[in-house]
Amino acid sequence: DKVAVLMGGQSGEREVSLMSGAGVLQALQSLGVNAHTFDPSQRDLSELKKDGFTRCFIALHGRFGEDGTVQGALELLGIAYTGPGVMASSMAIDKIMTKRLWLADGLPTPAWRKVTSAEATLVAYAELAQPGQPMIVKPAREGSTLGLTKVTAAGQCAGAYALAVGMDDEVLCEQFVSGDEVTIPVLGSGALARALPVIRIVAPDGNYDYQNKYFTNTTQYLVPCGLPEGEEAAIQALALKAYNSLQCRGWARADVMIDAASRKPYLLEINTSPGMTSHSLVPMSAKAAGISYAALCLQILQAATL
Ligand code: DAL
Ligand code: MG
Repeated sequence: DKVAVLMGGQSGEREVSLMSGAGVLQALQSLGVNAHTFDPSQRDLSELKKDGFTRCFIALHGRFGEDGTVQGALELLGIAYTGPGVMASSMAIDKIMTKRLWLADGLPTPAWRKVTSAEATLVAYAELAQPGQPMIVKPAREGSTLGLTKVTAAGQCAGAYALAVGMDDEVLCEQFVSGDEVTIPVLGSGALARALPVIRIVAPDGNYDYQNKYFTNTTQYLVPCGLPEGEEAAIQALALKAYNSLQCRGWARADVMIDAASRKPYLLEINTSPGMTSHSLVPMSAKAAGISYAALCLQILQAATL
């Protein structure tokens, strides 16, 4: 049994993926797994078969890694892989499709508009921004907050749209939810899927951006999250519903905002190949549940399927 840790890739999150993959590779090797690194941006995936790989741990993030394309290629090659399948991956990478599915299933997500111009972004700002609150403009299919702007004045709409559309031809505007930012990993599949402890994220000035995600040490990660017990359980149940709504399997992580005034939770997105870097959230939550980083990697690998 030979395992390829797929890492790197060609998305905007390449650097993050290299950090995730390095951690996963080391952990699997420390457990005696015959694991090797494989970067699909350097080598053709069909070489996996020639090299005798039987399973893949997908540590790729973003486009061509987290979006169902690599998953589809592995299906064709007959090589088992970690995490959600083709359809779940392609739905979850797209924040607009995700919202449509969640709304159809009656799950709460902030109000949004799909926009195709700077003018439409301005109209969305007038419709969506609450008094004294920003509006979020972001590419539909990116990760790690790349291309995201918190618009706080009408004059920023054009720039925010240009930045987002430079990263993806689909852009959405989203009502900002002011309150607690939380994230919830889910492990397992079908009836056995369960949510791990909620992490509450307190970033400098409330900006949990690319820099504060991976490079500063000023973001606080609270686990236990400090929310009332009933509230934490309700958010875990919501994360599990969101996971099942998208037909996820293996593992994923749901990002949620809790409105400070109403205490109502709103689902932002599901990450089907969450970060596994030293700063990443799934390992933190797993640790609080008594699962070490290495044990987590092994558990995810053991659930690899076709
Ligand atoms: N998109 C990054 C890797 C995450 O969600 O962890
Ligand atoms: Mg994401």
